[in-house]
Amino acid sequence: MQWATLAAAAALFAQNVAAQQMLRFACSQLVVERTDPLVNPGMKYTPHLHQIVGGNSFNVTMDPANDPATLSTCTSCSFVQDKSNYWTAVMFFKAKNGTYHRVPQVGNGGPQGALQNKGGLDVYYIPSGKVTAFKKGFRMLAGSATNTDDSKVNKGNICHRCWTSSNENTFVGMQPCSGTDTVAIPADTTCKMIRQTIVFPACWDGKNLDSPDHQSHVAYGQGSGATGGGACPSTHPVKLPQVMYELMWNVTTFADKSQWPTDGSRPFVYSMNLGGSAAHGDYVFGWEGDSLQKAMDNGCTLNQACPKAGLTTQPAATYNACNKKQQAPEDVDGWLKAMPMGEMAIKA
Ligand SMILES: *[C@@H]1O[C@H](CO)[C@@H](O)[C@H](O)[C@H]1NC(C)=O
Ligand SMILES: *[C@@H]1O[C@H](CO)[C@@H](O)[C@H](O)[C@H]1NC(C)=O
Ligand SMILES: *[C@@H]1O[C@H](CO)[C@@H](O)[C@H](O)[C@H]1NC(C)=O
Repeated sequence: MQWATLAAAAALFAQNVAAQQMLRFACSQLVVERTDPLVNPGMKYTPHLHQIVGGNSFNVTMDPANDPATLSTCTSCSFVQDKSNYWTAVMFFKAKNGTYHRVPQVGNGGPQGALQNKGGLDVYYIPSGKVTAFKKGFRMLAGSATNTDDSKVNKGNICHRCWTSSNENTFVGMQPCSGTDTVAIPADTTCKMIRQTIVFPACWDGKNLDSPDHQSHVAYGQGSGATGGGACPSTHPVKLPQVMYELMWNVTTFADKSQWPTDGSRPFVYSMNLGGSAAHGDYVFGWEGDSLQKAMDNGCTLNQACPKAGLTTQPAATYNACNKKQQAPEDVDGWLKAMPMGEMAIKA
C-alpha cells in the first residue's frame, strides 16, 4: 500500500480502531428484484425493490436448514468462501416530470484504493476482541423499512455522507456515522456521491439463529459506529463480528437542480418511497464451514487472501460474472413511470 492509502486507512478508523484488523471487501450485484426471503419468504413482488449480492443460492424462500455455502455454485463477493447474502433497498432519483431512475451503485476506495464492484456494495466484518462467528442458518435485519421518523434512528449506526467528488478514491475523512453524517439522504447539488453506512448489531443472545422480527436475537453493544461493537448487554452476551455495509450511490448525473422535483417532494428516496429513516439491511450468513471464525481468529485483513483461515480470493471478472435472473421479473432500470411497488413497474 502507498502512504496516501495508509493514511486514509488510519483516518477512516481513527483512534484505537486504526490498528484493528478487519475484513473489507467488494460484492457485486447478483440481482435487483422484489424478493426478500428474510422478511417476506415465498413472496414475489415484495412491497419494495432490493439489490442482492453474495451466493447464487439466494432464493425467494431460504430454509435455514439449507446451507448457502454448499448450495451456491458461485458468489458475487471477492472471497470464494463467502456465500452469504447481503441486501438493501435501492435508491431512486425522482425527476421533475415525475419519472424515477435507479441511482447507480459503485465501489468505494478507502484503505485499499479502488474496490472493484459492478453495482454492489462493500462488506465489512469488524472484530473487537475475541468474537464468535455466526452459525449456519443465522440471519438478521438492521433498520426498519417503514420508519419515517429520523429521530428514531441512531445515526451512529445508519447514516449518509455527502461526497463532493465523483471519484470514489477521494477519501472523505472521519469514521463512518460521525461528524455531519445524517440519517436523512442528503439533497444537495454539491453531492456527487452519497455514501450510505449500515452497521449491524454485534451482540447475540447465543441461542436463536433468527427471531420473529429478525432483530430481537441480536442487540447493539455500547458505543456506535465502526468500532467493532463495544461491550455487550447481559441479555445478548455473545460478541459477534460487527457486520457493516457501505454503499456508494453515484448521484453525479442527477446533480442538475433544474431536473429536481418542484412539488416539494424529495429528489432521492429509497425503494419504499421513503427517505433515510427507512434505510435497512438484510443479512443471511453463508460462509463455508468455520472459515469466518478462522478469519476472525487469525486477523485476516481487508480483501486479502488469508491462508491461515483458508480464505482465497477471486478476480473481479469472476465475481462480477456471478449473477441471477430476476425471479420477480420487471424493469428496474431506465426511466420508470412509477416506483416498483405494489404492481409491476412500467417503463416510462
Ligand atoms: C429456489 O427454490 C425453488 C423452489 O422454491 C427450487 O426449485 C430452486 O431450485 C431453488 N433455486 C436455488 C438456486 O436454490
Ligand atoms: C423525465 O425527465 C428526465 C430527467 O430530466 C428525462 O431524462 C426523461 O427523458 C424525462 N421523461 C419524460 C417521459 O419526459
Ligand atoms: C459516477 O458517475 C459519473 C457520471 O456518469 C461518472 O463520470 C463517474 O465515473 C462515476 N463514478 C464512478 C466511481 O463510477
